[in-house]
Amino acid sequence: MKAVQVAIDGPAGAGKSTIAKKIAKELNYIYIDTGAMYRALTFHVLRSGTPLHLEEEIIKLAKETSIVFEDGNIYLNQINVNEEVRSNEVSVNVSFIAQIPEVREILVAMQKTIAANHNVVMDGRDIGTNVLPNATLKIFLTASVKERARRRYQELHKNGTNDINLEEIEDQIQRRDEIDAGRSCSPLVKAEDAILIDTTGLAIDEVCSKIIKLLNKKP
Ligand code: C5P
Repeated sequence: MKAVQVAIDGPAGAGKSTIAKKIAKELNYIYIDTGAMYRALTFHVLRSGTPLHLEEEIIKLAKETSIVFEDGNIYLNQINVNEEVRSNEVSVNVSFIAQIPEVREILVAMQKTIAANHNVVMDGRDIGTNVLPNATLKIFLTASVKERARRRYQELHKNGTNDINLEEIEDQIQRRDEIDAGRSCSPLVKAEDAILIDTTGLAIDEVCSKIIKLLNKKP
């Protein structure tokens, strides 16, 4: 039987990973957080001291690094880096690395391979447009910038990062959206056949059941 693919795209902080993870659990599908893969490579590049303008060096690192997302965990060269990839330093720099076409080619190939053989819920920026153009269901999640910044602020505080205020986070999110939407290679854009859901003011469970209902309607 053909694998079921649910593609969830949208800007930073729209609730993609929380929602995608929950849906995958409910349906017993595999969840793939493609943002975590770009974040893991960014963490590796930063830790290696490679300057961000040295694209050839970054591509070389991408080629020789093992990045695996499995059971809700992200592994860099077999080491769990769940916490490290969520740091603010990684968030601020990840979009620069994610705009390098050769880096995308490497990570997209891995993402396609996983989705070819399993029922998946995959979230990111280019899943519906590029990674899984024939996905069973495509969702584009969004929310106001203020709401997205508030969510990120709460997440950072919960994890013990207190040295950044809400305004700074709002600026960072806006800048990241601009780079993600403005890059030439697979920019953040709603696929024509994706269903738009604005999560501002919506509870997580409401959004999840909406998406599952949409999926159940698919032939
Ligand atoms: O989803 P998350 O916010 O963790 O993604 C971090 C960054 O990774 C995004 O801002 C974007 O630059 C990049 N990304 C991407 N394509 C994806 C997933 C993430 O370019 N499919």
